[in-house]
Amino acid sequence: MATKSFFAADLFEGKVALLTGGGSGIGLEMSTYFGRHGAKIAIMGRRKEVLDDAVKLLASQGIKAIGFQGDVRNKDDCTRAVETTVDELGRLDILVNGAAGNFLCAAEDLSPNAFKTVMDIDTLGTYQMCYAALHYLKRGGKGKQPHEGGVILSISATLHYTASWYQIHVSAAKAAVDSITRSLALEWGTDFGIRVNGIAPGPIRDTPGMDKLSVDFDEKIAKNIPLGRYGDKHDIANCALFICSEAGGYINGATVPVDGGQWVSKVRM
Ligand code: HXC
Repeated sequence: MATKSFFAADLFEGKVALLTGGGSGIGLEMSTYFGRHGAKIAIMGRRKEVLDDAVKLLASQGIKAIGFQGDVRNKDDCTRAVETTVDELGRLDILVNGAAGNFLCAAEDLSPNAFKTVMDIDTLGTYQMCYAALHYLKRGGKGKQPHEGGVILSISATLHYTASWYQIHVSAAKAAVDSITRSLALEWGTDFGIRVNGIAPGPIRDTPGMDKLSVDFDEKIAKNIPLGRYGDKHDIANCALFICSEAGGYINGATVPVDGGQWVSKVRM
């Protein structure tokens, strides 16, 4: 772990978390933090070698972890991932929707299928995972007390709070993810005791997502972020620990920007 923990080591004792995209980048950091705080971990992703490496890394830290190869665009994969998690780890308490697709492309060059591909991964994929997990996350779901509901956390972005160059597809997809968060917080919070929230990360160092967008982590540009620095993966993982634990037990329907205040700031003239 890169920094000291701000939370009790047994924060997630007895809990099980399933993270899509949990084998790399921010997802792997969350898997590690959740596991270090007592949770058993299931990670789902498309690339077997990435999953295998992540499971090995988690196991080397004493974390019970399993990997499930699958694509969130495939409804049957979503159902099997959830069922395998419950079969092998006994229950499901936390679902993190971290799987995402992204690339930079000007709208004039973005084919409708390219747009749809990202919508399918980010938006449909998020909904399909929530839908597959509902039965187990609800109050009294397998392994749970009658009053004990689960938590959903979806990883969003701040791109769509304004407009972002060459990101029309991701902006639309993440806006829809935020909308899913609010709708499910209302319906599933009321009916099933499930809290549904999101995190919108800013520019986070050392992640495949940012590498892909060729973000220039120039320290001079960081001065335009109110807190004067880029984010680190642990900034997201610590927020995830807070939201998904009892510490965040009254948070429902929120998507929390974790970006050092970047999206509210303007470059000083
Ligand atoms: C333009 C592109 C393109 C590109 C693909 N397409 N890459 N168009 N520029 N760079 C088009 C293809 O031509 C095709 O359209 C359609 O998209 C589908 O492409 P496929 O390669 O067949 O799709 P697939 O193999 O399913 O791959 C999905 C992917 C890929 C999203 C395109 O990049 C991927 O698998 N990414 C997963 C990993 C990832 O991106 N992680 C980053 C997450 S970070 P046509 O019309 O030709 O059929 C993140 C952060 C967001 O999300 C917030 C940032 C601040």
